[in-house]
Amino acid sequence: MKNYADLWLGYRKIEDPGDTSLLKKFCISGVAESDKVVVNAVSELRTGLKAMLGIEPDIVFGSAGAPVSINSGKDMQDAEEYTVSIRDEGLAIDSKSGAGILYGVFDILRNVACGGDVRSIYASEKKVRPSNPLRMLNHWDNMSGDIERGYSGNSFFFENDDIVINERTEDYARLIASVGINGVVINNVNVKNAASYLITDRFFDKVAKLGEIFAGYGIRLFLSLNYASTIEIGGLDSADPLDEKVIAWWKTKMAEIFEKIPTLGGFLVKADSEGRPGPFTYGRTQADGANMLADIVKEHGGIIIWRCFVYNCKQDWRDRKTDRARAGYDNFMPMDGDYHDNVILQIKNGPMDFQIREPISPLLGGLKKTNQMLEVQIAQEYTGHQIDLCYLIPEFKEILGFRTYCSEDRDTVADIISGETFGSRFSGIAAVTNTGNDFNWTGNYLAGANLFGFGRLAFDTELSSEQIAEEFVRMTISRDDAVVKEIVGILLPSREIYERYTSPLGIGWMVTPGVHYGCSVDGYEYDRWGTYHRADHLGIGVDRSDKGTGYAMQYNEPNASVYNDPEKCPDELVLFFHHLPYTHKLHSGKTVIQHIYDTHFEGYEEARELAKKWSTLKGKVDDEIFENVSERFERQLANAREWCDQVNSYFFRKSGIPDEKGRQIW
Ligand code: GCU
Repeated sequence: MKNYADLWLGYRKIEDPGDTSLLKKFCISGVAESDKVVVNAVSELRTGLKAMLGIEPDIVFGSAGAPVSINSGKDMQDAEEYTVSIRDEGLAIDSKSGAGILYGVFDILRNVACGGDVRSIYASEKKVRPSNPLRMLNHWDNMSGDIERGYSGNSFFFENDDIVINERTEDYARLIASVGINGVVINNVNVKNAASYLITDRFFDKVAKLGEIFAGYGIRLFLSLNYASTIEIGGLDSADPLDEKVIAWWKTKMAEIFEKIPTLGGFLVKADSEGRPGPFTYGRTQADGANMLADIVKEHGGIIIWRCFVYNCKQDWRDRKTDRARAGYDNFMPMDGDYHDNVILQIKNGPMDFQIREPISPLLGGLKKTNQMLEVQIAQEYTGHQIDLCYLIPEFKEILGFRTYCSEDRDTVADIISGETFGSRFSGIAAVTNTGNDFNWTGNYLAGANLFGFGRLAFDTELSSEQIAEEFVRMTISRDDAVVKEIVGILLPSREIYERYTSPLGIGWMVTPGVHYGCSVDGYEYDRWGTYHRADHLGIGVDRSDKGTGYAMQYNEPNASVYNDPEKCPDELVLFFHHLPYTHKLHSGKTVIQHIYDTHFEGYEEARELAKKWSTLKGKVDDEIFENVSERFERQLANAREWCDQVNSYFFRKSGIPDEKGRQIW
């Protein structure tokens, strides 16, 4: 008996499947039968069909093309394309790569598991090409076994400063490959202690083994790198990217690493941020640091993913022009075009840090000559710790659909990260992941929808939030139409509800410092001027217009003008960009203060509604799932109540303006 759930690969038996004749015969072509990924794909097909339908299919192989070696660029994305069609009264899956075949198999199994009519789904040839070259998960797992911002147990990769490899490792690879993930960073971006030694003899064998397991599912392994490894483990006294000794050390080191871990895709680097070392220490630029490493890994086929989360966490807000939101753009825009072609800049979706609502980072659409990758977070650091329900796919859809006006057409974030806008070879999307060694992987069973959904959306950015939610529920929880409808109805509005009882109008940061769960209105306070919300007795919000910090001007037009003007700025972001009187009228017709009261009262009530809906599912879903989610809802309601009370009484006391609906404010 496994000590973890199968999630959406549970392949529950289908009682009344209808016509299954098409699923008895398969022809796989374009690849060699012996390719490890193809072997895994065939085994998955057999397992899934046997379990769901009792079918043991005939599988034949058509002609194979030249083998494709896994890489991280556009050519891999082309090779990952697959087609499924009906041929000779069976299903044919074609692709140039094992990964494409695997995705074709999962396409079929997903449709069967969701109860779809396979004959009509594949009636005309279905051709699928992933939307993005790189579709990655970033683990913030530490080698001690704990997870930075982890809300579902400990790491399943690391324990007591060692690497763990077991049956779960392989099942994890299957799970994430099944939704289209093709890259994984196993260790925390804050590379400290034993993690610095992942690139040494101490761990080479085990890292190589992990790399092989992942490669068997079309996934490339990446490591987070300590920028100052030359000092940490190399015995040098510098990490200056232009220092010959430093360069020589890295050359030798990288040759050794890629020889010992041949499946390695490259490295993720957090530099000059929150205490991490970086090129700034030596008066060098971020480009100097990234390019030095990139040039060295290039001959080994490696890439460097360099994070743009660079800001001065010790900065003082006394100078009203200083603004953390500006930092990414200020640090990275001046060097657009200087980054070498195997560097990708990884950009958090917003300019701050994964708040429930932020504008899109102006680097996306600002940078025009640099490979770019979007970073989102499915670990619910600021969005409820996988206690509160917060289905994030609607947020990701908004981000991807945002028009940056960086070119005449194809200017959305989705276009940019797909590589289409600027013809980049390396690009894509990464999520800080939400998994741990809990039985159900994600703490709250329903948080699994974010893991599933992130992969599905990264693979096909056209899918709707609703379709993804429905697939997740059908595959993981129940195929009963009424139950599916109810749970999808619970998932879909959950992000907006969370936003309503926490931080409306883009204000953010009213959380308990450090922990980032629970309300603390003045928690993030820096000095006598500044909490992040800048509320006084007259108004609230941060003036980021051209008269304030100037952040709004970092956008392309017309976005800059829209954000710069409180009359044009969308309500949901208006306090991110402007300091406004409590009596300011929003587009909705409400005043700011009334909006704060209403959203908090209503948000709490809406959370109660979600919990009530869930309670009707007792006996209709697996007991273990029911109890797990019910217990989370109980905690969510206590949290939502607390937020509602604290925020409303804080702003009532501050503004002295009563609720026009006369509700009790404590
Ligand atoms: C946030 C988070 C940190 C993390 C950092 C990052 O600040 O709280 O735990 O290290 O983001 O993205 O690097």
